[in-house]
Order: sequence, then C-alpha cells, then structure tokens
Amino acid sequence: MKQRTAGFFPSIAFEREKSRPMYHRLCDWFRSAIRTGQLHPGQKIPSTRYLASELRVSRITVLYAFQQLTAEGYIESSTGSGTYVTKSLPKKVGRLGISKPPRLIERSECSGSRQISQLSAKLVPFPTLPFGLDAFQVGLPALDHFPVSTWSRLVARHWRQPKREMLMYGDRMGFGPCREAIAEYVTTVRGVRCDASQVMIVNGSQQGLQIAARTLLDPGDQVWVEEPGYPGAIQAFQSVTASQIPVPVDDEGLDVKEGLRRCPKARAAFITPSHQFPLGMTMSAERRMMLVEWAFHNNSWIVEDDYDSECDFCKCPIAAVQGLDTHRRVIYVGTFNRVLFPALRVGYLVIPSDLASAFCRIRQASDITHSTLEQVVLADFIREGHLSRHIRRMRVLYMERNELLVAEIKKQLGSAVEIVSAQAGMHLVCLLPEEVEDVIVWQRATAAGIASWPLSICCQKKPARGGLILGYGGVDLKRIHDGVRRLAAIIQDSL
Ligand SMILES: Cc1ncc(COP(=O)(O)O)c(C=O)c1O
Repeated sequence: MKQRTAGFFPSIAFEREKSRPMYHRLCDWFRSAIRTGQLHPGQKIPSTRYLASELRVSRITVLYAFQQLTAEGYIESSTGSGTYVTKSLPKKVGRLGISKPPRLIERSECSGSRQISQLSAKLVPFPTLPFGLDAFQVGLPALDHFPVSTWSRLVARHWRQPKREMLMYGDRMGFGPCREAIAEYVTTVRGVRCDASQVMIVNGSQQGLQIAARTLLDPGDQVWVEEPGYPGAIQAFQSVTASQIPVPVDDEGLDVKEGLRRCPKARAAFITPSHQFPLGMTMSAERRMMLVEWAFHNNSWIVEDDYDSECDFCKCPIAAVQGLDTHRRVIYVGTFNRVLFPALRVGYLVIPSDLASAFCRIRQASDITHSTLEQVVLADFIREGHLSRHIRRMRVLYMERNELLVAEIKKQLGSAVEIVSAQAGMHLVCLLPEEVEDVIVWQRATAAGIASWPLSICCQKKPARGGLILGYGGVDLKRIHDGVRRLAAIIQDSL
C-alpha cells in the first residue's frame, strides 16, 4: 500500500448554519473527507478534547459526532491509543461509488472550460524518454564516477549543526561564499571577467536562460538563435514570446554575417560558442569579435550558454566570449549539473553589474532564491579542489568514451552515416543516411531501449539530413559497444 505522510490533519471547515445541530455538520465533514480521500483508512484522528478546542465547540458535541461515525463504521477507536479512520474502509469506499483518480489531462484536452494559456499550449515539447533507458542519454554524466563519499562528508559537515543562515531565506543572488568560489573558478578557468557580486546562483542553465530572457526581452523582441540549436533555449525564449530568428551555424559557429542579413536589429543573440549544441564546433575568434561589436553598436545582448566547457579534452580550451567583451553586453550562463550530476540543479549567471537588480526582481518573482544546502556544500567542493580533480578525471574518461563511440560507429555503420564530433563534451551527432527520417529511427531506438535525441528537434526547419544526438558521458565502454551494435541494426532496418 502507498505510504502516507504521518502527522498532518486537514483543517475542518463547515458552514455555521443554525438549522442543523453542530454534531451533524461535523459528521458530514468527516464522511465527505473519508469518501474523497482527504482522510485515509488507518489515519489517526486528533483527540475529542483537541478538536473541541480547535473548533470552539463543546467536547460533548465532538463526542456525539464520534459516536455516530463509529456506529456508521467510518471510524474506530482502539483502547489506549486513540481514534482512527476504519482500516477496512477501502471496500466500503468502493461501494460508495468513489471514482478512480482522474486521468492526467493531455494538452489537446485543455479546451472549452479547461482553457489554458495559448503560450503553454504552443511551447515546443522536449523529447520525453522513459526512465531507465540505456545508452545514449544526452546530457548524462558518468554518475558512477561522481565522488559521492566526498560530497556526503561535506553535506554532513554542514548539516550536523546547520548555521542559522542555512535555514533562512538567502540572498536573491545566492550564498556569498559559493558565489565567491564560482567567480574565482570562472575567472581562472573560463577567462570570464567578473567578481562575486555579478554571480547569481540558479537552478541550472535552463533557469538561467529563462531568467535572462525575462529580464532582457519584451514580447515580440527579436532574438538570434542557433540553427540547429538547443531546444531548451528555444523554449526559454518562446516562454517570453520573443520572436526567434534562426541563424545557421557552420564550422566557425554562428554565422554572424547571416544574422546581420536576416535581422540586424535583433535585441539579443543566443550562442553556445565553446561547444555548439548539438554540432560541437567552437566559435572562431573572428566571429566572436564580430558578434561583440554588433552587440555594442546595436545595444543588443549576448546570452552565452557555456553548458559543458568543463569537458573540453584539449589542453587549452578557448576562453568565454564574456571575457572579450568590454561593453558589458554578455550574460554568461554556466552549470554544474552536467559536470557533477543533473539532479544537483545548481547553475549560475554572470550578469553585468548594472543589470543585477533587474535580474533579482525577475528571480524573486519565480523562486525567490536557491536552496542553501547545495550551495554551502558546492562552495567547499570547489575551494578544496574536489571540483578540479573531478573535472580532470572526467576529461580523460569522456575522451576515452568519445573515441570508442566514434570507432564503433565507423566499424558497425561505415560510410552509411557521418559523425560530427568535437574534441569536447559528452555527446556527438551521427548523421543518418539521407533517405532515413531521424524521428522514426529515434522512436524505434527508444522502443528498443536505446536513448538518443533526433537532430531535427534542434531545428526550426527540417534539416537537409537527419541525425541522432548520442550522449556517451554516462555510458561505459561495454554498453557503448553493445548500444552501437543494436542501433546499427535499427538504422539498417530503416533503410
Ligand atoms: C546547451 C545546453 N544548455 C543547457 C542545458 C541545461 O542544463 P541544466 O541541467 O543546467 O539546466 C543543457 C542540458 O543538456 C544543454 O545541452
């Protein structure tokens, strides 16, 4: 039986109508609460003394009601332990004709009196994959290599005797020492120019994008987005009803000249310059400078999503665009959810100082501030060197996994497919034979228990050639081998 939370009792509310005695109304409330599932079989009921005082009625009134409900079989008392909703009630409730819990409502059913906003109905859906799929989940790191014992030691250090500040509402921008640790980390490792006062801790890149979109854009404002690009960013900009201008990417990343041709006056540009999502190229220095100059002269913003630069296999990763920009036009978005584990939900924004209070106002309207516990732990994790150690290890591991995946795809699929892979990240793109629809292969692979994303969900226009985005970060060598073998069979079958 489903376990229930102990100790809560719903508040009792009834009309103070004079025509019926109070104990009748109390009985009615209990019957209805039991029938509708507000009270469940076996649930303890507060004492008559407590209820009388809470409801400001005489204890006799409550005793009468309890007698009546006991006689009807709704409640039962156990000597010395109190009164309970009758344990054997499920059968009786069934006889009373209680319907099954309502079905979840599909989007298409939300019409007529169940109208929802047009915006929520229009948002592009994310590919939803059943839990427990094997290779090749996109965005999943090597969870079994995460230093759990170090993390739990740090949690225990802070949680055994938590300081008051950990239990209170925190600063809207985040926990000070964690922001300092992040500022030091991004300035040293990513070439970002900032101090801790510019760092806002958020739930992850996704929330960062959403807060940035809300703060910077009004409905209808135009924003360049990479084509193909990250569907989460498309959603974030859609959610503020910005008008998205797809700008193609090539070997040098976002084609800035094409952006200028399509929409020179755009209010913002969204880029993943370190490792373009999903194709993986690095934006060239020339394009970076061109973009920064455009933003300056046009009073536009650049939203830089540096979602997995930690996983760059090269010895000298290219610094962030934010560090190039002397005009304070870049909002830098980073995350620990990919390099540590996705359920952590800690990311950050680096915001130009003059925009910090505007970002705080928008943030306040959504979730006030971030949970302090993870921030306290993360601050120590960074400062004590565990983060840099973990990153060093993961780079070697991901490079090994990348190399094996590339080799296996070449071995099993040969020239039928084309691999688009960079010396970075936790995923690659496998372009499929032209005659094959990537969504169909994706569906078949999912049904066979293999996770991936179809390339076409990252495109606003159908791509000339479909592909599969394959995550390898969380897949060990044996499963890579096996996953490619099964995937190859599905692709061959789809030809
Ligand atoms: C390009 C890109 N940005 C942002 C995110 C979301 O990151 P987070 O889990 O921190 O919200 C992802 C996740 O896969 C991503 O691929």
